[in-house]
Amino acid sequence: MLVRNFSIIAHVDHGKSTLADRILEKLGAMGERDKRDQTLDTLELERERGITIKSTPVRLTYHRPLREDGTGGEVYTFNLIDTPGHVDFNYEVSRSLAACEGVLLLVDASQGVEAQTIVNAYLAIDNNLEIVPVVNKIDLPAADPQGAAQELEDVIGIPAEDAVFASGKTGEGVEQILEAIVERIPPPPGDPQAPLKALIFDSFYDAYQGVILFVRVLEGTVRAKDRMMTYSNGKSFEVDKVGTFTPGLIVAEELSAGSVGWIAAGIKDIHDAQVGDTITSKDQPTTDPFPGFKPAQPVVFSGLYPTDTEDYRKLREALERLKLNDAAFVFEPETSEALGFGFRCGFLGLLHAEIIQERLEREYDLDLIATAPAVVYRLTLTNGETFETQNPAEFPTRDRIETMEEPYIKLSIMLPEEFVGPVMQLLQERRGAMITMNYVGKRVELLYEVPFAEILYDFHDRLKSISRGYASMDYEQIGYREGDLVKVDIMVQGETVDALAVIVHRDKAYSLGRKIVDKMAEVIPRQLFPVPVQATIGGKIIARATVKAYRKDVLAKCYGGDISRKKKLLEKQKKGRARMKNIGTVEVPQEAFLAVLSTD
Ligand code: GTP
Repeated sequence: MLVRNFSIIAHVDHGKSTLADRILEKLGAMGERDKRDQTLDTLELERERGITIKSTPVRLTYHRPLREDGTGGEVYTFNLIDTPGHVDFNYEVSRSLAACEGVLLLVDASQGVEAQTIVNAYLAIDNNLEIVPVVNKIDLPAADPQGAAQELEDVIGIPAEDAVFASGKTGEGVEQILEAIVERIPPPPGDPQAPLKALIFDSFYDAYQGVILFVRVLEGTVRAKDRMMTYSNGKSFEVDKVGTFTPGLIVAEELSAGSVGWIAAGIKDIHDAQVGDTITSKDQPTTDPFPGFKPAQPVVFSGLYPTDTEDYRKLREALERLKLNDAAFVFEPETSEALGFGFRCGFLGLLHAEIIQERLEREYDLDLIATAPAVVYRLTLTNGETFETQNPAEFPTRDRIETMEEPYIKLSIMLPEEFVGPVMQLLQERRGAMITMNYVGKRVELLYEVPFAEILYDFHDRLKSISRGYASMDYEQIGYREGDLVKVDIMVQGETVDALAVIVHRDKAYSLGRKIVDKMAEVIPRQLFPVPVQATIGGKIIARATVKAYRKDVLAKCYGGDISRKKKLLEKQKKGRARMKNIGTVEVPQEAFLAVLSTD
């Protein structure tokens, strides 16, 4: 069998899903009846937000056209793996890549190389994959296909002449892409007779069949009734079924070296079969397991509380269900004086956090209060103990702390030259230190080291507005650095509200305290009496604002600048289900808990 395994990688919105659809259409994988936009984006939420979250593999058949010289005419099996473009889901990209021999690297012909184009290209290079550069969206009036191809050469070193020009919208260039896949991407290696060695690159939990493993078979063959073993923990399972993706699950007789498919083996716990682990044969195990992935570590934490305390159990069940399908998501019970019983949850980033919260509210019909997201701090206490915390409420008092460290990221930003000045100023405000600055034609790549906490809240919005939408960014965690951090407490009506505490660098404490109390005074509905809101450090008041006495306030501002979110919140309020929590006698809305995120 002639096989090609490949993935499509690109900066967000450069058109992966659209191009994947054209390829599926061309290869007859979409019947007219179920033809709809972005077939590979299966989760309802993905469709609505227009972004790809989970990578979905699909198996296709390519009948290579006969050429005049008599060549061609072969039948190829293509396994196409779509990948997400957002930085929170970079780990999904790297696992998908490990299942491929090559990638289509898309670049929007009107935008050129962006931050994630570079990061994704290097992921592919690190995995020794063949890169087929595709300059996409050439139908756009503002397209500069040659310019984009030249940027690929200048920035990443991919020869401009290798570029295939295409449009996912009109379908132009799709045939050339199919040919490039056959000609340039190598066939998968591997011996079907060797001991089984398969890589788990994704999984999901099915209530009837247990965990469905997405695998790339590297060596050997797997069939129903085989005894398989997960390499890392030595647990064995009998294979129930194996199959391929269309993208639905189709049962097959076997999966052999080179193929991409799924295995169901009655595994009840997703932790028994972790992504990145090797599956082998129980009786004849491989001696050379896959080296494994870096496990996805949650880096952002926040508290989730039901607005209605009766919903606690329902929330726990929903979190457990979500965790079955998301190995990167963690949670544990937490109690807050102000909010009662809830859960401390860990996420890969803010988008991941928003998605989980939205799924909880939508799929499980829960109303939630989320506390401000926080990063993980590392402390050495005066008694010599080391202590990690991502919960401001648990932050020890200053006299108990010897040293404090906070996580840093390497941030890369691509932007037009004219915005370099203001963006560098923004980075300086965010305690960034420049690593390098590279010119790429009229654009600039900036590399900075920045405390992760500084880009967590409104950085992306600020960057976009300063650069009128032209700057793009990506980042990776690079470890911990010392920092002079303080805990800012917030008091409402003279009472400290534990769930509102934030950790911040000392230099920023006053301005942040000011911002939070002002925002809170703005969003807390007026009461019959004035309500003081204060920010304090170690009991000392650093900022103060007052919620004035009663006057009906209809439209409180919401966090972020996202219009659809605002609309949604408005709809919610219309339904009379505004998310509020009573703190003493004061009703505090969700926005107040996220005051630290506000952009103004
Ligand atoms: P993520 O899944 O979020 O990473 O995005 P993506 O890279 O898959 O992009 P997607 O296919 O969702 O396309 C982004 C936007 O570009 C959509 O509005 C598409 O309609 C548009 N688009 C995609 N391909 C083309 C193209 O070839 N020409 C034009 N004019 N527009 C395109």
